[in-house]
Amino acid sequence: MKTRYDFLEMEMDAILKASKDNIVVTDGEGTVLRVSPNCESVYGKEASELIGKSVDELEAESIFSPSITKMVLKERKEMQVMQRTPAGRMVMATGLPVFDESGSIIRVISFSHDLTEIQHLKEDYEELQAQMERYQIEIQELREKDHDVDEFVIKSKATRQIWQLVQRVAKSDASVVFLGESGVGKNVFAHALHQGSQRKNESFIEVNCGAIPESLFESEMFGYEAGSFTGANKKGKAGLIELADKGTLFLDEIGELPLAVQAKLLKALQEKKITKVGGVQTKHIDFRLIASTNQNLEEMVKKGTFREDLFYRLNVIPITIPPLRERKEDILILAHYFLKQFNEKYETDTFFHAATVEELTSYSWPGNVRELQNMVERLVITADSRTIYPHALPFFIQHDSMKLTNGWTADELEETHTSLQEAVEEVEKRWLKRAFKRFKTTYEMAEYLGLSQSTVVRKLKKYNINAKTN
Ligand SMILES: Nc1ncnc2c1ncn2[C@@H]1O[C@H](COP(=O)(O)OP(=O)(O)O)[C@@H](O)[C@H]1O
Ligand SMILES: [Mg+2]
Repeated sequence: MKTRYDFLEMEMDAILKASKDNIVVTDGEGTVLRVSPNCESVYGKEASELIGKSVDELEAESIFSPSITKMVLKERKEMQVMQRTPAGRMVMATGLPVFDESGSIIRVISFSHDLTEIQHLKEDYEELQAQMERYQIEIQELREKDHDVDEFVIKSKATRQIWQLVQRVAKSDASVVFLGESGVGKNVFAHALHQGSQRKNESFIEVNCGAIPESLFESEMFGYEAGSFTGANKKGKAGLIELADKGTLFLDEIGELPLAVQAKLLKALQEKKITKVGGVQTKHIDFRLIASTNQNLEEMVKKGTFREDLFYRLNVIPITIPPLRERKEDILILAHYFLKQFNEKYETDTFFHAATVEELTSYSWPGNVRELQNMVERLVITADSRTIYPHALPFFIQHDSMKLTNGWTADELEETHTSLQEAVEEVEKRWLKRAFKRFKTTYEMAEYLGLSQSTVVRKLKKYNINAKTN
């Protein structure tokens, strides 16, 4: 026959077993009477190792550290404390005193709530937060570095005027299209425009229209919903237009857009709204539009390869950047600017010979600034002496031999000279004279002509070439 006491005991055990918190019950002296069975996972001790011991002992063994029971016995009221247990768990311990009629503490009951998971989450969260801050700083630095105005060469009147126009136009939110041959600096000016605008701290999304295959254009530009087509990312994807929200959308090489795509794009540009592929909802996107092309869009409109409505949409403010050959003042500044850059990059110390400088300015630069930049890099890398002579220029030979044949063809040589020997000497004399004019020392002349310095001296004497006669 079970007594009431037995039932109470059973109830108590069931409660202790069911509780997620660890429960410890002591008497008024702090001797452990009961513990819930989960004490092993929290304190690393079995119930039998704790029962009968005093909290003083257990605190000394760092099992309860600090002991909440001791605190309750001292303060005679409910207390709370964070504990780190020997099993490495963080627990929030709450202790409650139980008084008898005379006001003496007869029991202390404490609950320990495991906070380890929450603590880990909190630490992860703080780590993420710190990481975010670092990334934000990095992004800011990258943005500033990318558009550093010092990195930009503006010397000629033409370039200065464009720069000023870009700065003025940047403040408005009007669409701008940059026109000009390949390599004139359309991309750098587009960056500068964004950088000078109120949107400069927002994203600058550059889309190379020539590089996106027609079949992918829509999903790239507008994004797609989850599972909208095979091969698509499961979660769906944001489109490039959406990424430009609050910032600038730069459509580079817009003349490369196939007609079918132009119609879809026009709609998005006009309404500033997009619908993802496979989606139904439209979303408003706030972006400023910049475009660029090296093609003649008006011609394309006439030929029917570029939509007229799209052309007018883009052509709100056209800015034409002239080719490098039409702003000769920029050539040398740019050449020296790139020379300095590549000398630093390759740890070299090369410089242009005076004759090289002359050649650089008179060349037509069909590839514009990009060609100049690439050429200077190649010259710096391949230079076999500190001086970069004109014969190292890829266009030099062709250029020079043209001059030679222009004034003087092989036929003429044949007509005016009786022997080959004589004709060869005539050519040799001319070459030497020209080298003599161009260079200051016989060493430079030798390098230029591909002869030894002593041969140069001998031949100058032979042909009687000196300062007076020339
Ligand atoms: N005014 C300039 N100052 C410095 N570098 C320039 C300038 N203009 C062009 N460049 C450089 O020349 C190269 C070609 O410029 P880019 O803007 O890509 O030309 P485009 O877009 O017209 O083909 C780039 O490497 C760019 O950094
Ligand atoms: Mg470009």
